[in-house]
Amino acid sequence: MEFFDVPALGRVAGSVPLPGSKSISNRLLLLAALAEGTTEIRDLLDSDDTRVMLSALAALGIGLEQLDRHAWRVHGAGGRFPVKQADLFLGNAGTAFRPLTAALALSGGHYRLSGVARMHERPIRDLVDGLRQLGCDVRYLGNEGYPPLAVAPADIELEAPIRMRGDVSSQFLTALLMTLPLVGALSGRPAVIEMTTELISKPYVEITLNLMARFGVEVAREGWRRFVIPGGQRYRSPGVAHVEGDASGASYFLAAGAIGGGPVRVEGVGRDSIQGDVRFAEALTAMGARIDMGDNHIEARAPADGKLRAFDLDLNHIPDAAMTLAVAALFADGPCRLRNIASWRVKETDRIAAMAAELRKLGATVETGPDWIGVSPPLTFVAHAAIDTYDDHRMAMCFSLAALAGVPVRINDPNCVAKTFPDYFERFGRLAAPVIAIDGPSASGKGTVAQRVAQALGYHFLDSGALYRLTALAAMRAGTDLDDASAVAGIAAALPAEFNGEQILLSGEEVGAAIRDEAVGVGASKVAAMPAVRAALLDRQRAYRRFPGLVADGRDMGSVVFPGAQAKIFLTASAEARAHRRYKQLIEKGLPANMRTLLQDLQERDARDAARAVAPLRQCEDADRVDTTSLGVDEAVAAVMDIVRRRLPFIN
Ligand code: DC
Repeated sequence: MEFFDVPALGRVAGSVPLPGSKSISNRLLLLAALAEGTTEIRDLLDSDDTRVMLSALAALGIGLEQLDRHAWRVHGAGGRFPVKQADLFLGNAGTAFRPLTAALALSGGHYRLSGVARMHERPIRDLVDGLRQLGCDVRYLGNEGYPPLAVAPADIELEAPIRMRGDVSSQFLTALLMTLPLVGALSGRPAVIEMTTELISKPYVEITLNLMARFGVEVAREGWRRFVIPGGQRYRSPGVAHVEGDASGASYFLAAGAIGGGPVRVEGVGRDSIQGDVRFAEALTAMGARIDMGDNHIEARAPADGKLRAFDLDLNHIPDAAMTLAVAALFADGPCRLRNIASWRVKETDRIAAMAAELRKLGATVETGPDWIGVSPPLTFVAHAAIDTYDDHRMAMCFSLAALAGVPVRINDPNCVAKTFPDYFERFGRLAAPVIAIDGPSASGKGTVAQRVAQALGYHFLDSGALYRLTALAAMRAGTDLDDASAVAGIAAALPAEFNGEQILLSGEEVGAAIRDEAVGVGASKVAAMPAVRAALLDRQRAYRRFPGLVADGRDMGSVVFPGAQAKIFLTASAEARAHRRYKQLIEKGLPANMRTLLQDLQERDARDAARAVAPLRQCEDADRVDTTSLGVDEAVAAVMDIVRRRLPFIN
C-alpha cells in the first residue's frame, strides 16, 4: 500500500484492546533464551521487531514453539547459544540489535550482525566500548561506531567496573545489564557498570531490571549512576511470563480521547504497569485532559471545557510517547514546547527533523533545536496533507490523529506500522471511523435507504438483519432445533458467511434469495431474541467499522452495537404503509400475497422484536426519527442525508 487516507474525523469514544509491548516482548524473548528452563510467553507482540528477535534466536539454535498467534514456548539454553557461528540480519530492530550484540559478544562464537541502511546509521559505540572493557572482541565492519558488527570469542575479564555513557541510548545499558549475569554466573564475581554521563530514558532501564528480577537476577542500583550485579546469579525461567499491552501504542488512542472528546479506554495496561510510557497520561493531564487509571486500563477524555492547554514539558522519560504529544500540540490553545528529547535524533529516523517537516505540512509553525521542538498550532488545518513517514512506525501512527481536526490526512507508506503495531489502522478505524446507525422495523425501507446512503458517502455497509437471517438459514439447513439457543449460538459464532459485493454467500453458496424467504424471516426473528446469538454476532458486526466509515442497518445498531455512532436514525413507517410495500414487492416477484395476513405478520413481528428482553426494537434517545409513511425512496434518502450532514459536519 502506497498511502492510507484517514478521513476527516469528529468525536471519538470507545475502547481498544492493546497489542503486546515491544519493549517487554523482545526483552522477555532474550531472557527466556538465556535462562535455564522453559518459558511460556503469553500475549507476545506479533510484529516485525519481534519476528526479527524470534528468527535470530532460532538461527542461534534456541528451541521455539509457537502455541498460538501470541503465545510462544522458549527452551532456554542456560546462557550458551548452541549455534557458534551465524550471520544475523536484524532489520531496524534496536531492541534486538543491541542486546544480541552484547549476548553474542559473551557467547564464545563467531557472529556477524547487520541491519537495514538506517540501522547502520544508528550509533552503537557506547555499547561496543563497554563490551571491549570486558575483553570482548567486537569489530566494526563498516563505519567506526556503527553497525554492522562482527564478534569473536575472547577471554572475558570482570576486573574493573565497566564505564559507560548513558546519554545517547538507554538500550546500551539495557544490553549490558541483560547479558552481564552470564559472565557473573560463570565467574562468581559481581559485575559493575558506572555511568559516565547522565542516563536518558530511565524508565526503559526500569523495565529491564524488572524483567531480569522475574528471571531471578537482582541488580543493586545506586541512583542511576552505578549498577551492581552480584555474582553467582543465573537466569531461571519463571515458567510463564505475560506481556503487558503496549503503553507507547496506547498513547495514540489516549490522545484521540483527549482531542476527540472521549472517553477512550485502552485495555491491557494500567496503573501498575512497568512501562514508563504510561506516564504519557500525566502529560495529557498537563494539557487538561481527564484521565482515569485502573488496574488494567487507562481512559482519557477531553478537558471539561473541551480545550486542550499549551504545555512546556521535559519529556526525557517518555521519548516514544512524546511524539504523540507533538501531534496533540496541534490541538492546544497556544505554542507548546517538548524538551530534552535528543534521543529522537538517533531513532528510526531523525525524529525531530521529520516531525518538524510533517507538522508544517498541516499548517503548524515549528521551531527546533538540538534536543527540543516547539509547535504552534495552525490557525486553520491544511486539508489533504500528505504525510511522509520516513520508515518510522510512530510517524505514521501519531499523524493519523491530525484527522481529528476534521480534515482528511494522507499517510504515505502506512505499512511501516508493522514494526510494532501491524493492525494499527484497523484498530484506529474500529474506534474512530464514523458510523451511521439506521434502525427501524421491518419493511420501513431502511435497507434500501441505508445502502443508498452508504453509496453516496463511499462508506462500508452492514446489513445486520442478513446475519440473523443467515444464522437461521444455516441452523435450518443443519437440522438444528431453532429453540436450542446454545446450538444456534454456536452456529452464529462460526457462521461461514461472506458478503461479496451484491452477493451473500453461505459456505460459498449464493443465498441472497434464500434468506429473504418468509420462513427464514420468522426463524431470524426467533433466533434474534436469543441473548447468546446476539452476543455471538457482536464482534463480527463491530468489525465492519472501518475507514472511511460505516452505514449499519438493523434494530440495535445505535443502541447496542455502535452506541457511540456519530449519527443515529430511527427509520419507520406506519404498519399499513409497510405491509403495502411488502405486498407490492411480492406481487412484483409474481408471488401470492394477501394484505391482511401481511399486516398481521408485520404487527406480530414488530411486537416480538419490541418485546424481547435483549436489544428490543426501540428508538434511542439520541436518534433522529424519519417517518417514511408518505415518502418515496429518494425523499427518504434525502431526509437521512440531511441528518447525516448535520451530525457529521466534518464530512461536508
Ligand atoms: O431487517 P431484517 O428483516 O433482515 O431482520 C431479520 C430479523 O433479524 C428480524 O426479525 C429482526 C432481527 N434483527 C435484529 O434483531 N437485530 C438486528 N440488528 C437486525 C435484525
